[in-house]
Amino acid sequence: MQVSEIASRGIALLGCGKMGSAMLAGWLDQGVSPDAVWVIDPNPSDWLRQTGVQINAPLPEGDKAPGIVLIAVKPQMMGEALPQMQSLGNGPTLFISVAAGTSIATFEDLLGSQTPLVRAMPNTPAAIGRGITAIIGNTQASIADLDRAEALLQAIGQTVRLESEGQIDAVTGVSGSGPAYVFHLIETLAAAGEAEGLPADLAMQLAKATVAGAGALAEAAEETPSQLRVNVTSPNGTTQAALEVLMNEADGFPTLLRRAVGAATERSKELSRG
Ligand SMILES: NC(=O)c1ccc[n+]([C@@H]2O[C@H](COP(=O)([O-])OP(=O)(O)OC[C@H]3O[C@@H](n4cnc5c(N)ncnc54)[C@H](OP(=O)(O)O)[C@@H]3O)[C@@H](O)[C@H]2O)c1
Repeated sequence: MQVSEIASRGIALLGCGKMGSAMLAGWLDQGVSPDAVWVIDPNPSDWLRQTGVQINAPLPEGDKAPGIVLIAVKPQMMGEALPQMQSLGNGPTLFISVAAGTSIATFEDLLGSQTPLVRAMPNTPAAIGRGITAIIGNTQASIADLDRAEALLQAIGQTVRLESEGQIDAVTGVSGSGPAYVFHLIETLAAAGEAEGLPADLAMQLAKATVAGAGALAEAAEETPSQLRVNVTSPNGTTQAALEVLMNEADGFPTLLRRAVGAATERSKELSRG
């Protein structure tokens, strides 16, 4: 499905910060007409102003009402921001939310239980079109609605479909919060290089390129990441020496990441309970 075709019935974007701007940039690149987009944001950026979309203008009503409302405000602004969209609830307009921690039930309370809705969990590589977004629809969302949501969200990277809303917490623990774990891996890999005597900027360049290159290889290769690891581990070599530390059952990566992802998942559950 073409994004420009989906947008022909109009898209309202509520909140145009980092996530909203990344999506809007992707849609415009894919040929969406600025005339089809209404953005609501209290402090429009300079970038937004020069896109030609309608900013803080009244939304068209009745037959001309936007086919899709995409919600990209911070969860704590939801109570203030969403009422402006309430009149579009319980109708044909599809609502898509990328807000962390705001449940389908909360949206149904605010917008009406007959509102077609897709809840999505993106991540920050969205800023360069390399994000991954997991989606789940409510009972009112049709297959076509999920297709439309997926096509719009593919402007910021890959998409995957979930089987239940309960999976969102674990997705948050893996991919939602995951980029920060990888940033920390880069920091600590570079610091370890420095501790072994490398200049700081060289260690950082090596660490960034290693993580980016290994990530790209893991995505592109036919082999599993486990096989790729085995392929670069010669018996009694340097990699094996490091992996004996990292794969240690007591305090290596498996235990550490299990605890880290568990903590993020638990926090996501707490936040969605309010
Ligand atoms: N960034 C991520 O990696 C990431 C990952 C997963 C999920 N998300 C979700 O994506 C959503 C947006 O995050 P973000 O990083 O893009 O945040 P952000 O950069 O702060 O963007 C939010 C935008 O909404 C605007 N806003 C505030 N109140 C509003 C209102 N009443 N009506 C309309 N717009 C309003 C903000 O304006 P002001 O700046 O002037 O307040 C800002 O431009 C959040 O719900 C977050 O949970 C983000």
